[in-house]
Amino acid sequence: MSPRDSVIVNANRERVGSLPPSPRPRAAAKRAPRGSLSVRAEGQLAVVAGAEPEIGRCFSVPAHMGSRPEEPLSAAGSPAAARDLGSSGGPAAIVSSADAVRQSEAPYDEHFTWEDGGDCPVAIELHLPAAAASETFSLLASRSHEREADPHGEYSPISDLMATVRAIAEHLTDSPSFRFAVCGDRENGVMRRLERARNRRNGGDFVQAVREFNRLLDRERDAGHIGPSFGRRGAPPELAIHIIEQIYNRIVAPTVGMLRQYKAFSNNVYGEVLPTLISEFIERTGIARESMFIDLGCGIGNVVLQVAAQTGCHACGIEIMEVPARLAGRQAREFESRMQLYGLGRTSVQMWHGDFCESADVQRHLPRADVVLVNNYAFDSKLNQNLLQLFLDLKEGTRIISLKPFVTPDHKISARNIYSPESILTVRRYQYWSQSVSWTDSGGEYYVQTVDRSRMKEFLAKRGMT
Ligand SMILES: C[S@@+](CC[C@H](N)C(=O)[O-])C[C@H]1O[C@@H](n2cnc3c(N)ncnc32)[C@H](O)[C@@H]1O
Repeated sequence: MSPRDSVIVNANRERVGSLPPSPRPRAAAKRAPRGSLSVRAEGQLAVVAGAEPEIGRCFSVPAHMGSRPEEPLSAAGSPAAARDLGSSGGPAAIVSSADAVRQSEAPYDEHFTWEDGGDCPVAIELHLPAAAASETFSLLASRSHEREADPHGEYSPISDLMATVRAIAEHLTDSPSFRFAVCGDRENGVMRRLERARNRRNGGDFVQAVREFNRLLDRERDAGHIGPSFGRRGAPPELAIHIIEQIYNRIVAPTVGMLRQYKAFSNNVYGEVLPTLISEFIERTGIARESMFIDLGCGIGNVVLQVAAQTGCHACGIEIMEVPARLAGRQAREFESRMQLYGLGRTSVQMWHGDFCESADVQRHLPRADVVLVNNYAFDSKLNQNLLQLFLDLKEGTRIISLKPFVTPDHKISARNIYSPESILTVRRYQYWSQSVSWTDSGGEYYVQTVDRSRMKEFLAKRGMT
């Protein structure tokens, strides 16, 4: 690699750093017929051959995977053992777009062309709303970047930069003139210039447009116009989803191959509720800033983070499997840092590693929960029965969202079942449409149970049993 290939520039095209050195000239990668340029985890550029790894979001993890000798999986076994994996306790450095590309095993190529004799930057700094905050965005493109519209496609740093510019203008400042200069002006606005430069692969123009954005944002900050346009309400879904996708691309995507191991027909089959259905859950159950939300079996924590971003509530999750639990903790820390750099303040997120049937954290938090999610689509009846026992501790009015029902709509209270958990639940069934969950493209059903002890009390009162 020639020294100029590793240059990171700020928006004035001044060098602010460089990526770690590569053992191979990048030009050689383009000439290799079946080879492709890959920015590897060690930060080295290398030529690799063969097909791109397929990235998907539906996976399951065998119990033994990812365990480290010094941290045995048996930690999940006892009430005291559920480990606090991460919470929004304090700021940490973000994983940048350039880090994500460097860690990816997918092949990345030069997207832009550059003037002869000048620098050929591989990354650029984009200013963020918080004072002195910026992120280094890669300027490379995934081999499959044509699939940008595909949510399961490879990470596209250029699209990510442009979506971040739009998100900042639309949601993170309260200045109409800034918004117009970035998004509104369809002739010469920053977004239009970025689109044109990306489509024409003109690196110089792209850098100039980023430079203009940074200058405008700095001016807004100096004028005191930085702050969410949505006030104290939670972030709108499109902003929350942008942030969650960014975190996923930086923390989970580089390791997703390891998570895609399949253990079918077990309680640990992994699948995710996708963002649009999560937004529907939030609306349907009325989660608000003052609520407490718990995801029992949170996987990598995607639902917990989206709920926290969209509502500002205290959101917690517990996961039994080592690898997704670890990722959930890392995602929570990245979430906290990003929310601060975007000027969105502190969040209240906790992820635990443990068994929700045994965890002391769950026992402590459940009685205060307003909304509980259990994605029990693949849980066996024994685990669902154990969960039902936990629901006896829930307060009146708590909503339990599940993918399989815990009680039938025609459940009749009788002397035989009066003290069973089913007797304190009412249930409503709802439909979800295609593209709502990761394990199927088809629609399906979900259920919202509400803790309602009135029927039980009435039954007991009628029999003089209160
Ligand atoms: C289908 S995934 C759901 C992920 C996420 N909640 C969502 O809906 O997108 C279910 C998760 O529950 C976890 N799980 C199963 N039994 C558990 C237990 N006893 N304690 C904690 N997590 C458990 C599985 O390992 C799996 O990751």
